[in-house]
Amino acid sequence: MQHGSDTKILCMGRIYCDLIFTGLPAMPVLGQETYAESLKMHAGGGCYITAAYLSALGNKVAITAMLPADPFRETVLDEIRQMDLDDRYCEPAPMGQDPQITVAMIGNNERAFLTRRASAALPANTGPSFALPGLRHLHIGELTTLIEHPDLIEKARAANLTISLDCGWDEAAFCHPDLADLISAVDVFMPNSAEAERLSQNSVSLTCAAQTVIKRGAEGAELHIAGQRYFEPAHSEVQVIDTTGAGDAFNAGFLTAWLQDKGPEDCLAAGNHAGSIAVSRVGGAAGLSPMMYRDTNTPVEMGAQAIL
Ligand SMILES: Nc1ncnc2c1ncn2[C@@H]1O[C@H](COP(=O)(O)OP(=O)(O)OP(=O)(O)O)[C@@H](O)[C@H]1O
Ligand SMILES: [Mg+2]
Repeated sequence: MQHGSDTKILCMGRIYCDLIFTGLPAMPVLGQETYAESLKMHAGGGCYITAAYLSALGNKVAITAMLPADPFRETVLDEIRQMDLDDRYCEPAPMGQDPQITVAMIGNNERAFLTRRASAALPANTGPSFALPGLRHLHIGELTTLIEHPDLIEKARAANLTISLDCGWDEAAFCHPDLADLISAVDVFMPNSAEAERLSQNSVSLTCAAQTVIKRGAEGAELHIAGQRYFEPAHSEVQVIDTTGAGDAFNAGFLTAWLQDKGPEDCLAAGNHAGSIAVSRVGGAAGLSPMMYRDTNTPVEMGAQAIL
């Protein structure tokens, strides 16, 4: 597939390889062995999942990030390419670096995660990514990436891009002294309710960005613009199988509508729709394909497949 002329959205953030153990009889216990029924490997991390859903919704998307070290790089790159994401500015991790992976253990309605955050999120020189023809928007997968690369704001603005930012849970990030300045520099800030609550404990105003979306899980989502609050309920009829990546999928739905200049309620509804697709599927973005949900009226049941 040729990339370039119509790539609309650039996603930047930390990419992981997820090792997903499912069918555990119970969570592992110290000093004992636990056997899983299945193990799958998939590309993960908020930036990747949002990029994959953006592609599934019919957008042309580029992704710029460091790739996890071998032997996991190949798995991640295969999935990036299957999703038709432009990876020309992704870079391999330096030789000898720990692989950046998340081990997910899932069983009996319980889950545990273990993550090695190994590399810098992004290549040292992000400049070339901003010269991709046709770009309109930058999505940053988590606050930590923006803290590590505050120059993204200036580069995106110089390229006339709008900017969105997910939050992600990172205690060190929540205590960063420049947090309010960084958040207020983006157009759309997209925390979930727990992250929003944590930020307000640190006196970061949730409305410091021009637009703030707060994702509220099964309740739905709200959008704050210039002192106005809009709310749209989540899809209540959806069969919830696995909520992994729901927030990242929500971002993709919301941004697809937002970039089409839809109004607040429509953007929230599009986010909720993508979120409901994600919760009806197993895993983050496994089993998606480009354009799969291009028709935004695709019934949610279409997504109800155990893909892992
Ligand atoms: N149980 C549910 N039923 C229906 N829709 C849901 C449910 N959980 C999540 N969603 C949809 O997904 C959106 C995002 O979910 P949530 O608020 O859990 O994000 P999140 O915590 O950032 O998720 P994650 O970080 O795991 O990707 C919600 O706003 C809603 O539209
Ligand atoms: Mg989230």
